[in-house]
Amino acid sequence: MALVGLENDDLKLIIFGGKGGVGKTSCAVATALSLAQKYKTLIISTDPAHSVSDCLEQQIGFKVVKIEGVEKLSAIEVVADEALSKFKIEHHNALKKLLVTSTDLDNEDIDEMLTLSIPGIDEIMSFKTIIDFIEEGEYEKYVVDTAPTGHALRLISSPKLLDTWIKVAAKMRWKYRYMITSFSGSYKQDDVDTFLLGLKKTVKRIENILRDQSRCQFIPVCIPEALAISETIRLLSDLGKFEIIAQQLIINNVLESDECSFCKRRKAGQLPYLQEINNVFGKLNKVEVPIFPEEIKGLTSLAMLKSCLFENKITN
Ligand SMILES: Nc1ncnc2c1ncn2[C@@H]1O[C@H](COP(=O)(O)OP(=O)(O)O)[C@@H](O)[C@H]1O
Ligand SMILES: [Mg+2]
Repeated sequence: MALVGLENDDLKLIIFGGKGGVGKTSCAVATALSLAQKYKTLIISTDPAHSVSDCLEQQIGFKVVKIEGVEKLSAIEVVADEALSKFKIEHHNALKKLLVTSTDLDNEDIDEMLTLSIPGIDEIMSFKTIIDFIEEGEYEKYVVDTAPTGHALRLISSPKLLDTWIKVAAKMRWKYRYMITSFSGSYKQDDVDTFLLGLKKTVKRIENILRDQSRCQFIPVCIPEALAISETIRLLSDLGKFEIIAQQLIINNVLESDECSFCKRRKAGQLPYLQEINNVFGKLNKVEVPIFPEEIKGLTSLAMLKSCLFENKITN
């Protein structure tokens, strides 16, 4: 089978996830290359290892760059720390005012607090960056390459974390609002409220797009090995908790050749795992990708992977 449905007009966001080293980056980049034949496409890496640069053999970094030789493809590697600094600078006044009006902390403590990291904030910032791009709407398709499983899940759960943070902040404000109302008889929404409402809207937008199968697809990548299969089972079950349902699965590194005794044994060793994948992930559209003789690097080998994913051509 081949990957299906990615050309649907409504589908904007395609996220690749899975265990480390199974081929997420290669498949994400090959998919982006395929989509870029027709659609203006942006590939976004949220993996701190930023292997999209290596895969495409072009330096990318935390700014959108055009990919040489592929007219409709651009790429960016999100650096969560930098995204957070940008956010803090942009909203410094609102964040400070939130703490000044809702806590008994003095100025020095508040400044210190603003420099502290909030757990999960990296993923929130990465996801916010993705959503901001989608909302700007400059591209027709957004392909996201994630770091290994844990990171992808933290990315997916980031709206919930942010929502909790907003609720705490809103509670802190409630006391302040009560005080103002008691003294002056009325309360007018201020810039902190606007800031919190804006964040709340971001959370809703992220959640809505993630759960909407017509706008977002999460594609897990697996290989025919025990650990990768159990990690994929866990990943799909955890995604289910966030109401994200995968529709297709890439099975990478499948051995096709049995010309030498080594290949014969490896291939025989993969068979039970391929059967297990078929049984366990029965409902998913499964796309098998053969193992290539060389690593996947540069446009020529990516084009071969692309035809495996979209035309299901066997290349070796
Ligand atoms: N089908 C394949 N055949 C040969 N090498 C592959 C294949 N898929 C991925 N690779 C290679 O395996 C390594 C890990 O792939 P990568 O896409 O970076 O995985 P991940 O992003 O999941 O860590 C890379 O060197 C890549 O070129
Ligand atoms: Mg990778």
